[in-house]
Amino acid sequence: MEIFHIAAECYPVAKVGGLGDVVGSLPKYQSKAGHHVRVVIPFYDTQYINSNKFENVYSGFVKLGNFNFPFTIQKGITNDLGFELYLVEIPELFDRKEVYGYEDDIERFLSFQIATLDWLNSRNSIPDVINCHDHHAGLIPFIMLYANKYMKLRSVPTLITIHNSIYQGQFGFDKLYYLPEFDLSKVTVLEWGNRINSLATAIKCASAVTTVSPNFLNEINNFGYGLESLFNQVRHKSRGILNGIDNEVWNPIKDKMLFANYSVKTFEKGKQENKEKLCSQFDLDPTKPLFSFIGRLLEEKGADLLPHAGALALSENFKEINILILGSGSSEIENQLSHLLVSFKGNYNVYIGYNEELAHMIYAGSDFLLMPSRVEPCGLNQMYSFRYGTIPIVRRTGGLKDTVIDFEDNGNGICHDQASIADVCYSIQRAIKLYKDKKSLKNIRKLGMNIDHSWESVCQEYIDLYHLITNQNES
Ligand code: GLC
Repeated sequence: MEIFHIAAECYPVAKVGGLGDVVGSLPKYQSKAGHHVRVVIPFYDTQYINSNKFENVYSGFVKLGNFNFPFTIQKGITNDLGFELYLVEIPELFDRKEVYGYEDDIERFLSFQIATLDWLNSRNSIPDVINCHDHHAGLIPFIMLYANKYMKLRSVPTLITIHNSIYQGQFGFDKLYYLPEFDLSKVTVLEWGNRINSLATAIKCASAVTTVSPNFLNEINNFGYGLESLFNQVRHKSRGILNGIDNEVWNPIKDKMLFANYSVKTFEKGKQENKEKLCSQFDLDPTKPLFSFIGRLLEEKGADLLPHAGALALSENFKEINILILGSGSSEIENQLSHLLVSFKGNYNVYIGYNEELAHMIYAGSDFLLMPSRVEPCGLNQMYSFRYGTIPIVRRTGGLKDTVIDFEDNGNGICHDQASIADVCYSIQRAIKLYKDKKSLKNIRKLGMNIDHSWESVCQEYIDLYHLITNQNES
């Protein structure tokens, strides 16, 4: 099949979070399975883009109301990604360091979608399927269906994969004229809560909707962020497909970012070596269990609980544990976490920022990984953590509930039900006890390391769904 993935992120080209990881790995395994896979994202000012070569395959202008933005489509030449990469270069809008967070994000991603469609429309053949990811590509199914200019693409089945339902790409009807001319009798399709809502429009118009774990779809009534009733209306075309991980990138046997490599047979020694290295780098105590957190410092991830739960755990059990945090996000949480350094130096440290290499070292060198998420559509960190023999401590929600089972139920991790300081501290207490029971600790780590969350075993679910929507479109 010829498959197009359209998204805002793709690791290692541009990554902010898990969306980037999925868009950088699912296509690779679909390619390996024999499909012709292309990924389209904007051309940002990132390190990968600046250090790789591209060729211009198409040029045009995006018309956004009164604005006219010149754009080109740049195809990646160095094919080290395992799929074809196409970048939409709109210098005025995307020649910037950050992926998101600008005042003109609506204009940026709308132009990205229109430029992508212009290019797809100009090609001799049409794709077999278009897989859009999150709201940044959410208006594509609508435009394909109702804008005459893109009639050629009308028959192409589309899938919207929802990685995050909090952000929906909403804007006022005063910007309606930005959209390419379309059948005005369909204008209500764009509307949700009196605004144009890109994600809601995608859910209405796409041939199928996927969430990134089965349980997140079950819980959607708690986490639809205003879209609950819409999700209920589209149950018939929705599926929860659990994300996979890239076992080539996340492999402690070969991972070049580690200080010491190890396998399921040698993990005790290997993990200890990485832990010692990490502890010396961050002034921690390698003889005590190391609890880590990696990710965006947002309430959604329960990161606001960390300063308080961390302070309590460190003071009650001071000198019994270490805590290490890697991430960035809310400046309030960042400040609180930095402030803890004053009281707990020697057992606590924090790195504010994004650092892929350090993340690998932390998975390898830690004993436990904290994920007290309030919302977790899938969660990849618990899967990386398993792979590196680190035991995840998670709140039972979304994809975490699908993948982590408490060790007292013969499972692979530690689970709690509330996103509360008390629950996090209680789980840390249980972990400290478990850490002292070396035999159980070893067995649980082994159990985790032997789990197969690779895309190899799950990417077929997407292909089956693509076939299903293709057949439906034809009949
Ligand atoms: C988002 C979600 C996360 C998911 C990732 C990849 O970042 O918050 O739960 O794993 O997307 O789908």
